[in-house]
Amino acid sequence: MSRDPRSTDVAIVGGGVIGLSCAFELVRRGRSVTVLERAEVGYGASTVAAGMLTPSFEVETTPPSLVELQLDSLRRYPVFVSEIEAASGLSCEYRDEGTLWVSRHRDDELELDHIRKIQEDRGLPARRLTGRETRQIEPYLSPRIIGGLLVETDHQVNSRKLVPALAAACRSIGVELLEHTDVNTVERSGGRIELTLQSGDAQSTLCADQVLLAAGVWLEEGLVTPLPRIGMRPIKGQIVHLKGQPLVNRVLRNSDVYIVPRAGGELLLGATEEEQGFDMQPTAGGTLDLLRYAFEILPGLYDLYVSEIDVGLRPAVSDHQPVLGPTNSEGIFIAGGHYRGGVILAPATAHWMAELMTTGGVPEAISPFGIDRLIARQQEAAG
Ligand code: GLY
Repeated sequence: MSRDPRSTDVAIVGGGVIGLSCAFELVRRGRSVTVLERAEVGYGASTVAAGMLTPSFEVETTPPSLVELQLDSLRRYPVFVSEIEAASGLSCEYRDEGTLWVSRHRDDELELDHIRKIQEDRGLPARRLTGRETRQIEPYLSPRIIGGLLVETDHQVNSRKLVPALAAACRSIGVELLEHTDVNTVERSGGRIELTLQSGDAQSTLCADQVLLAAGVWLEEGLVTPLPRIGMRPIKGQIVHLKGQPLVNRVLRNSDVYIVPRAGGELLLGATEEEQGFDMQPTAGGTLDLLRYAFEILPGLYDLYVSEIDVGLRPAVSDHQPVLGPTNSEGIFIAGGHYRGGVILAPATAHWMAELMTTGGVPEAISPFGIDRLIARQQEAAG
């Protein structure tokens, strides 16, 4: 059956890592998909993200159901990446050297013991190290480092490679990807869903059977939908990019900073967490903090060049957990609010959202992350 060119099975609002991953999965399940991106693919948080795939280190502050979803996603990563690379012909720079948490003083040491205890309780593998063992693994660490915690099962991916590769992979399997296209409204009309689009001065309409809202922090910004508001807000993150002699082989972190090595001697220092609305300017204070904390554990970075200071806006709701599932408006779905975990959660989000959107049943893995919890909270707050 031939289709109207302005018609699609699924319209996805947002061309970041989540929207594109879902598009890739849905097309492979036989759906026609159109992705609508207000700027360029990956604009927003996706390509700014450091790409750490490290669920074991977030256990202290993450509810068990979310750690489970992260672990599920981590297990899917090797296949996810190889399928994207095969479809796009582009590398995602996936690396599996692990993550090393380093301690500088007794406070840090007690925190590492505490994290290790939680990991043990949840059956997560890791190795506690002495200062000497830690510095043997990464010789450029400061002599002040007195201990470490090594998680060899944590991995990383270069988000600046992953997102363009995903976009190319999507195009190669037939996803229609419209950049510089704002979605102004999403509404049900005569059994289907109608989206009004704006590209420069040109306005048009797209009809879809299903709509997936995956627009990151812009999910409620300038977009009119039948959904109640869920309080999506941006959490600003600044990341300093350094370049020069490679100093470390794996991701380093402590409670103040993480240091992520990438190919070609690039080192990322991240990241600030700031409530600054939609402000995307790097600041002296944010940069100073990241450099100071990173210098404390890796003094050799003093001579590296600053190549860039990047800013991303993490999409978050009040409980800082993702929002995944159907909405109270038939045919409209949501995959948002990934906060610090958009890159790690991409494969699981794509898998489970595609499962939901093609079968109609809410998979158990994402059932704790439904929109209802937020609507109930908003109603409570309104009295
Ligand atoms: N995923 C790390 C961050 O958001 O800073």
